[in-house]
Amino acid sequence: MVQILLYLVLAGTRAFSQTPSPGPFADAIAKASPEGYVGNSVCRACHPNIYQNFFRNPHQKSILSGKEPPEKTGCEGCHGPGRKHLEASGGKTTIPFAFSLMKPAEALDRCLTCHGKDFTRADIRRSSHSQSDVACNNCHSIHNSPVPKSLLARQQTALCYQCHPGVRAQFSMPSRHRVNEGFMNCTDCHNPHGTPAPTWRAGLRPRMVTQALANEEPCLKCHTDKRGPFAFEHAAVRVDGCETCHFPHGSPNPKLFRRATTFALCLECHNGAGNFGRNGDGVTVQAPFHDLRSPRFQNCTTCHFRIHGSNADSRFLR
Ligand code: HEC
Ligand code: HEC
Ligand code: HEC
Ligand code: HEC
Ligand code: HEC
Ligand code: HEC
Ligand code: HEC
Ligand code: HEC
Ligand code: HEC
Ligand code: HEC
Repeated sequence: MVQILLYLVLAGTRAFSQTPSPGPFADAIAKASPEGYVGNSVCRACHPNIYQNFFRNPHQKSILSGKEPPEKTGCEGCHGPGRKHLEASGGKTTIPFAFSLMKPAEALDRCLTCHGKDFTRADIRRSSHSQSDVACNNCHSIHNSPVPKSLLARQQTALCYQCHPGVRAQFSMPSRHRVNEGFMNCTDCHNPHGTPAPTWRAGLRPRMVTQALANEEPCLKCHTDKRGPFAFEHAAVRVDGCETCHFPHGSPNPKLFRRATTFALCLECHNGAGNFGRNGDGVTVQAPFHDLRSPRFQNCTTCHFRIHGSNADSRFLR
């Protein structure tokens, strides 16, 4: 019984491969452009699922507009001219751009033929992702995206955690930004395509951290009360940045603190050591009346209330 079935199957495929049935495609082959573009409708016969779902894809626009040249239209806009593929009745090696056979850098190049102009991807080649061979199709799925927005291969946080499992643990800590709960996304603070820095060197911002207004930290998009400018800036906030005192993802300490207590945070700089600060003799040490053994003085921000900057007091007392 099994043998008979097997025979039938083999006979079937052999019959198919011996007569490559040029019939249905002879017409399309004859009408191909000089470069070998045959149009999208012929792809339907053998790739019905992909073809039928394509109407939901943003790339469908290139077909609908009817104005794009063949090399920028539909299936062949990504996979290249299809004539040889039709003549051979299919096969992975007969289509110019089969992504399953392409190296990450080649896939990147292919997508950038159209997406290269986009500002957010101007620096993608120098991004940590491209440098580590993470290409467009590691994160985007053209034909099988479960999330319609941006054709992501998975829902965003799940996508990022797949390769950054340590970050998931950070977002589960007692004090955290609520990314796992769905109130925020990684892309509120990161641009996975790389973030250019608006400096004269046209460099990249480290860790692909996005910016709010010109070169500001992304934190200020939401925590606008910390933006200033203040009459009295705290150099630690303005110059060193939010991450000097806060972890961005999560922390075992309250308020995303890097240290368990407030005074440990402050004394890292306000200890008189080093040769920096206003007078070159170290960052100002708290005045002698501060008795650090007394619990009253240990929570510095009960008095230095406007620690992120103040418009009224140079010591941030109000
Ligand atoms: C925007 C570029 C793009 C367009 C347009 C496009 N494809 Fe693809 N195609 C890909 C990528 C990338 C893959 C690799 C799998 C993936 O990442 O989803 C792929 C995979 C495939 C595969 C392999 C099977 C699979 O599911 O992996 C077939 C067959 C295919 N495409 C046919 C088509 C057809 C037919 C059309 C037109 C209806 C089309 N493609 C339009 C980019 C594109
Ligand atoms: C006669 C049937 C037939 C037609 C028509 C056809 N294909 Fe294919 N295609 C195949 C077969 C068979 C394969 C090989 C599948 C395999 O080996 O897994 C294939 C493979 C592919 C792949 C390779 C995907 C990969 O990365 O592995 C792409 C891309 C593709 N086809 C695109 C197209 C496009 C675009 C068109 C329309 C211009 C088209 N095909 C028309 C039969 C066809
Ligand atoms: C590390 C993962 C990752 C890689 C690699 C990646 N993307 Fe994205 N891309 C994303 C995410 C996440 C979004 C969604 C942003 C959102 O939802 O706000 C996105 C959004 C987009 C968008 C739509 C929104 C926009 O920013 O314009 C386009 C177009 C896009 N990506 C194209 C590409 C191309 C082309 C490549 C390769 C050259 C690429 N992406 C590489 C993760 C990635
Ligand atoms: C032939 C040109 C062309 C190529 C090649 C191309 N794209 Fe696109 N892509 C477009 C156009 C046009 C749009 C629709 C833009 C719009 O919505 O106005 C688009 C839209 C997208 C979007 C959705 C943006 C959104 O807002 O949801 C993503 C993601 C994307 N492309 C990723 C890719 C990836 C990944 C590749 C490589 C596998 C690729 N594209 C190759 C032309 C192209
Ligand atoms: C396919 C695996 C993969 C996916 C998916 C992925 N990444 Fe990455 N990511 C990497 C690799 C590899 C690096 C470079 C090596 C490293 O620094 O860990 C990297 C680097 C980074 C960095 C810079 C780290 C540094 O030290 O400079 C950030 C930030 C980042 N990814 C965020 C994201 C975000 C946000 C997403 C989801 C939109 C994402 N990644 C999706 C693999 C991935
Ligand atoms: C509230 C803003 C914010 C959000 C949301 C955020 N990040 Fe970050 N992330 C940062 C900042 C800022 C840094 C740089 C920290 C530094 O350099 O000290 C960073 C660093 C990183 C790094 C490199 C350092 C490390 O810890 O490995 C990776 C990888 C990363 N983030 C991935 C992610 C992923 C994945 C998500 C979503 C699940 C995410 N981030 C969400 C702000 C954020
Ligand atoms: C997309 C908006 C958004 C961005 C961007 C953002 N935050 Fe937040 N942040 C919030 C919200 C909302 C809360 C309220 C706490 C919650 O979600 O439970 C919060 C809470 C905090 C807290 C207090 C946590 C506590 O336990 O009381 C600190 C500290 C903080 N953020 C620092 C930062 C820093 C530093 C950055 C930049 C690396 C940043 N935030 C970026 C929205 C944002
Ligand atoms: C010098 C250390 C330091 C720096 C740098 C710093 N913070 Fe804070 N931050 C604190 C302290 C201390 C508290 C607790 C204040 C309190 O208990 O009254 C705090 C509390 C917060 C809170 C929660 C309570 C509130 O006031 O809303 C947010 C949100 C916050 N910081 C955001 C930021 C942002 C955004 C930046 C960067 C612009 C930043 N912080 C830079 C020390 C710092
Ligand atoms: C990253 C280093 C750093 C950290 C951490 C830091 N500061 Fe500062 N702080 C400075 C610098 C630099 C100045 C500017 C004055 C100077 O040069 O001595 C300053 C100024 C001050 C001033 C005003 C001093 C004056 O002479 O007007 C006060 C008050 C102050 N900080 C309190 C704190 C408190 C409270 C904390 C902890 C929540 C803290 N600082 C954390 C670096 C830091
Ligand atoms: C009980 C209230 C209180 C607490 C708690 C407190 N301070 Fe102060 N601090 C002050 C006052 C008031 C001044 C202003 C003294 C003056 O004007 O001469 C001051 C001044 C300072 C100065 C500036 C000194 C100078 O000579 O210009 C620094 C730095 C400082 N405090 C740091 C700290 C740090 C760090 C902590 C936590 C370990 C802390 N303070 C806790 C009330 C407090």
